[in-house]
Amino acid sequence: MNRLDGKVAFLSGAARGIGGATARMMIEAGAKVAIGDILDSAGRKLAKEIGALYVHLDVTSEASWAEAMDATVKAHGKLDVLVNNAGIFIGKGVEEASLDEWHKLVAVNLTGVLLGTRAALPHLKKSGPASAHGAAIVNLASIAGLVGSQLDPLYSLTKGGVTLFTKSTALEFGRKGYRIRVNSIHPGLIETDMGQQTFVMRARQVGTNDTEKARQTTLGLHPIGRLGVADDIAKGIVFLASDDAGFMTGAGLVVDGGWTAH
Ligand SMILES: NC(=O)c1ccc[n+]([C@@H]2O[C@H](COP(=O)([O-])OP(=O)(O)OC[C@H]3O[C@@H](n4cnc5c(N)ncnc54)[C@H](O)[C@@H]3O)[C@@H](O)[C@H]2O)c1
Repeated sequence: MNRLDGKVAFLSGAARGIGGATARMMIEAGAKVAIGDILDSAGRKLAKEIGALYVHLDVTSEASWAEAMDATVKAHGKLDVLVNNAGIFIGKGVEEASLDEWHKLVAVNLTGVLLGTRAALPHLKKSGPASAHGAAIVNLASIAGLVGSQLDPLYSLTKGGVTLFTKSTALEFGRKGYRIRVNSIHPGLIETDMGQQTFVMRARQVGTNDTEKARQTTLGLHPIGRLGVADDIAKGIVFLASDDAGFMTGAGLVVDGGWTAH
């Protein structure tokens, strides 16, 4: 189950966090992996450790995506799986966030996903028919792309876009006869650098620096009784990328410790 033998995967924003854990798990599952990030030294270090290819990638740049795809296909011969994982978070309300912060958020969380999808498409169109259940794209959305976020409505605006872009591209590629499945994953609070940033911002919003209290508040939103770890999400991404998810496209996998059951 959940094997990726013979598949080649590319993950954006995978120098650390959920992307890093997923790259590692994909290699353990038999895939050849390339990772791209703006954090070159962390990315190179991780790539060396797990046996992946590292390429510098700024997801907001079309030229950067073209170079990353070329390097991946040159090294590994093809591309079967794209994981649009790179993302950023602001943690400010509608009145507090500046227009520049919004533009940056859109550039990474939305333009980055569009450019990644477009850059990978020629390669996925080619590899899809050669695979029993087609090629696969997995987009990192969030529970903030399913329900409202009082912490960061702007982030929620971008992740809601990723949720519906996933469904729309699944439909478009299906209509065009491409054998490419597109699914999204929706994490609850995951203990990564971004997860830590949410505690800082949550505390700041109530006028304190008490990140431990903010952590406890967030924990209370997860009926399962703990926060998530990167591997919880990596397992879901590996599943969606694998042939075991061969009848899934346009779907969203919620891995949130029960948060959205409320
Ligand atoms: N951590 C959570 O609680 C959580 C919850 C829901 C969704 N997510 C989503 O999961 C994804 C991964 O988040 P994470 O928690 O691992 O965060 P993280 O901050 O640990 O990792 C994000 C990675 O994206 C990279 N990145 C940022 N801008 C980039 C750019 N322009 N080009 C290339 N790479 C760039 C960063 O350098 C970093 O390595 C994000 O899309 C995030 O929105 C996270």
